[in-house]
Amino acid sequence: MEYQQMSIELLTDAGNAPLDLLYNADPSVEAVADYLKRGECFVGKVDDEVAGVYVLLPTRPFTVELVNVAVEWKFQGRGYGKQLVEHAVKQARERGYKTIEVGTGNCGMMQLALYQKCGFSMTHIDVDFFRRHYPAPIFENGMECRHMVRLSQDL
Ligand SMILES: CC(C)(COP(=O)(O)OP(=O)(O)OC[C@H]1O[C@@H](n2cnc3c(N)ncnc32)[C@H](O)[C@@H]1OP(=O)(O)O)[C@@H](O)C(=O)NCCC(=O)NCCS
Repeated sequence: MEYQQMSIELLTDAGNAPLDLLYNADPSVEAVADYLKRGECFVGKVDDEVAGVYVLLPTRPFTVELVNVAVEWKFQGRGYGKQLVEHAVKQARERGYKTIEVGTGNCGMMQLALYQKCGFSMTHIDVDFFRRHYPAPIFENGMECRHMVRLSQDL
């Protein structure tokens, strides 16, 4: 089935950031506020309705990290996540970055598939990242989300 294209634009006023959607990808209020201050937030709309979001966060020289990719629940499974990740890779390349990185939990099967389908390769694992940085254990797909799997792509 063909779904309507999502139109993705850079958010010019951080005050209009879709916070609830951003918290779907990262429940930490402090982390999201920090990403919005230091990064560029892109918002995807379908029929003028906010359907997806991501943030591009400069980290090291020539390197940017894709954080907070999220698609509204009712719009999931229609290819919009893939469209957002492909858009982020293109934006990073156009801005002159040499590497784009992303991190996801060890239990995020769909996320791991999505990022690898969009050209990312696993580089390493940040062992016990979620136990160290989050106040309570996180469970997804019947597994504890303990480790951060790091992936990257040369641009
Ligand atoms: C992860 C997320 C962004 C994916 O968005 P989406 O729009 O549903 O993803 P897409 O429809 O583009 O699907 C991309 C890939 O995910 C996988 N996928 C999608 N729906 C799936 C399902 N129901 N079951 C298994 N895999 C699925 C497939 O590999 C798919 O690739 P394909 O189209 O080639 O088959 C979305 O689920 C989400 O917002 N989750 C909550 C926030 C989150 O976890 N963010 C990531 C932080 S690291």
